[in-house]
Amino acid sequence: MAPVIIDGKKVATDVKARVAQRVAALEARGVKPGLAVILVGDDPASRSYVEMKERDCSEVGIRSFDVRLPEGTAQGDLDALVEQFNADPAVHGILVQLPLPSGLDAERVIARIAPEKDVDGFHPASIGRLVRGLPALHACTPEGVMELLRAYGIDPKGKRAVVVGRSVIVGKPMALLLLQADATVTVCHSKTEDLPAVCREADILVAAIGRARMIDERYVKPGAVVIDVGINRVESGLVGDVDFDAVAPIASAITPVPGGVGPMTRAMLMANTVAAAEEVSR
Ligand code: GUN
Repeated sequence: MAPVIIDGKKVATDVKARVAQRVAALEARGVKPGLAVILVGDDPASRSYVEMKERDCSEVGIRSFDVRLPEGTAQGDLDALVEQFNADPAVHGILVQLPLPSGLDAERVIARIAPEKDVDGFHPASIGRLVRGLPALHACTPEGVMELLRAYGIDPKGKRAVVVGRSVIVGKPMALLLLQADATVTVCHSKTEDLPAVCREADILVAAIGRARMIDERYVKPGAVVIDVGINRVESGLVGDVDFDAVAPIASAITPVPGGVGPMTRAMLMANTVAAAEEVSR
């Protein structure tokens, strides 16, 4: 049977429409949600992400505060800018675009962000709260995956979930969110022995590796839900970590690349920003 193609563009549009309603409700109470995005250097991919975020903000009614700093910016100046946004009541969310140019310490600047404004969910306090099962802002990409599962009525409860990749941005928070949703979770990585066999145990397989089309039919149990977090640039364009053509015929549901998880990350950033604004204006 043909798989369900999970339409991230559509779900992201729905998420943003709900965010816009929440923004309007806040505005009626005199609160305009604000997101500060800091970009250091001029990496073209980062620049284009930042521009898309600005567009999302204006679409949902969030005020954006965008700062571009030159490549050679000193750590102290970056830290000071974060402190300035921490203290600014018009700013509810702060995002420092990663990766930072060499010479700048991402851990140090992330740790400076006030946790209540940490809309990326990367601060140690945000991750610690997630581990403890306490309310927190969650990293946008894994939260976007959870939103896709909810939108398609896929309940992880009791299911075997396998996450391939253990990054702080995706793999680890993804595993924690699936665990919180009562899945039985396995996290795989580059040292995992017999990766295809482990992946074949998955009812829900999340690929967040960063290797073009690595996950083929040998890694997928028939009927599994396959979520592809990868975005890899190859000669023919953008492809995921999943070999879509090989896997789609055996999956029950699958995300395409592009148009799957990608649009969700930015939508969840908007959702996190409005949630941060709601939290301080209760
Ligand atoms: N670079 C790539 N993805 C992300 C993200 O989700 N947040 C930030 N801050 N930088 C990124």
